[in-house]
Amino acid sequence: MKILLATGNKGKIKEMNALFSDMDIEFIGTDTLKETPEVVEDGKTYHDNALKKAMTFYKIALIPTLAEDSGLEVDALHGAPGVYSARIAGEGAPDAEKVRKLLEMMKDVPDERRTARFVSVLCLVLDGKPYFFEGQVRGHITRRPSGRSGFGFDPVFVPEGYKRTFASLGQKTKNRISHRARAIEKLKEFLKERLTRS
Ligand code: IMP
Repeated sequence: MKILLATGNKGKIKEMNALFSDMDIEFIGTDTLKETPEVVEDGKTYHDNALKKAMTFYKIALIPTLAEDSGLEVDALHGAPGVYSARIAGEGAPDAEKVRKLLEMMKDVPDERRTARFVSVLCLVLDGKPYFFEGQVRGHITRRPSGRSGFGFDPVFVPEGYKRTFASLGQKTKNRISHRARAIEKLKEFLKERLTRS
C-alpha cells in the first residue's frame, strides 16, 4: 500500500519508511504531486489541523493520505502553547526563540509545578474517511535548555522516568518513547489489521 505523507520533508518520509520497513507500506511525499497547496494550520485542535492537511492532499492525490499535528501542553499554563506551539514566538520564529519564550512564560512557575505533555495526532484518510491516532508523553520543563539533538522544545523537556531532556537523550531514545512514536504505534496496529483483512 502506498501512503502519501502530507509533508515535503524528505527526512520525515525516510523515517516513516524505516519505521514501517517490516510491512508492505511505502510512504511518499507531497513532492511527488503536481500541485502542492499551502495548508494554513488555523484549527482549534490538533484533530482539526491534521484532518485539514490530510483531506486537502487526499483530494488531490486520491490515495491513502497521512498528516500529523502536534504540540506541547504545560499544566501551569492551562495547556498552552498547545495547538499554537509552532507559533508561540510568532510565525516562522527559530526554535531557540520558541524555547526562550516558553521559559519566559514559565519563569515564576516552581519546579514541582513544571509538568507538561507532548501530544501528537495523526489523521489517516482512507477511501475518503478519516481515522485518528493519538499519542502523548508526560514530563516536565527544565529552567535551562540542554542537549543538541531533536527540534522544537526538545532541549527543555524531560520525559517522565528520565533525568535528561529529549535533546540530551538523543533521537534513538526519543523515537522509542515520544508522543509521535506512540501515535505511530497505534497507526501501525490499525494498518496491520487492515492489510491482513484485505
Ligand atoms: P506542528 O505539528 O508542525 O504544528 O508543530 C508543532 C510544534 O510543537 C513544533 O513546532 C514544536 O515547537 C512543538 N513540538 C511538537 N512535537 C515536538 C517534539 O517532538 N519535540 C519538540 N517540540 C515539538
